[in-house]
Amino acid sequence: MTWTRRHLLDLQSLTAEELTVILDTARSFKAINGRSIKRVPPLRGKTVVNLFVEPSTRTRISFELAAVRLSADVVNFSAEASSLKKGETLRDTIRNLEALNADIIILRHSASGAPHYLARFASAHIINAGDGAHEHPTQGLLDTFTIRERKGRVAGLNVTILGDILYSRVARSNIWALLKLGAKVTLCGPPTLVPKVFEQFGCRVTWNLEEALRDADVVNLLRIQHERQRVTMFPSLGEYTALFGLNQARMKWVKPDALIMHPGPINRGVEIEGEIADGPQSVILEQVTNGLAVRMAVLFLVNGGKATETE
Ligand code: NCD
Repeated sequence: MTWTRRHLLDLQSLTAEELTVILDTARSFKAINGRSIKRVPPLRGKTVVNLFVEPSTRTRISFELAAVRLSADVVNFSAEASSLKKGETLRDTIRNLEALNADIIILRHSASGAPHYLARFASAHIINAGDGAHEHPTQGLLDTFTIRERKGRVAGLNVTILGDILYSRVARSNIWALLKLGAKVTLCGPPTLVPKVFEQFGCRVTWNLEEALRDADVVNLLRIQHERQRVTMFPSLGEYTALFGLNQARMKWVKPDALIMHPGPINRGVEIEGEIADGPQSVILEQVTNGLAVRMAVLFLVNGGKATETE
């Protein structure tokens, strides 16, 4: 299958075949990252702009390193230091970046749909690095990549996503990728953060933690997205931890070979006990490593690279 998309805006609109092309291409790039010389030429002479209108460390650094490894020139643009603060519209910012011949623009924005809006008029390739509570496609891809690498498959696995589903773009991108690739997805957390309406996507929704953990092959924990919650969704963080935090006592419900995942940033002692985050079942840092390979694959493919050329 050949890749034809100019942008990566979401995972909802991708087919299982397209998802698989990205994951396979990422596997080839992961091999490159293990070599002593890690730089390859596909984006030589191209300009990649990291336009982050919302705070981020790991995603921005990961995209930056991915672009550098592909030999691109990289410009980092953060909202605090930009004219967006002086009232310039996002559309004008993009036009200015394109006037400087930006080839790929990686956008993080607090408004859901911002990258889709840009893609309507931009001539550069647009990659969504997280738009509001909507999607975070490369996170969904790197999580799926990590599951597939560790478990050898995605189809038929039970994946539980635990925590603030309502405000999580990571949850939405995971749900689309996992369901399309044949996994069974269970969502769990307090009812105010895990509404039944998610069943319409094809997920199982349960507010019973033991039930959500018992048959899981993968447990993906999410941070409480305080910055996106417009009202208080539960009485206190302490109450959340008491009812839904993953601790040693609750690990007895988790299969010994289940993977413990988290997109970061972790709030130790809130959604996850520190010992579990650092424990033998945790693949949290592998997710970060795999994120680099996945982002290299996405940059390469949207720029017109052929999936087979990476071998
Ligand atoms: C996530 C995000 O920004 O959506 N983090 C990330 O990309 N590493 C999740 C979060 O902020 O909790």
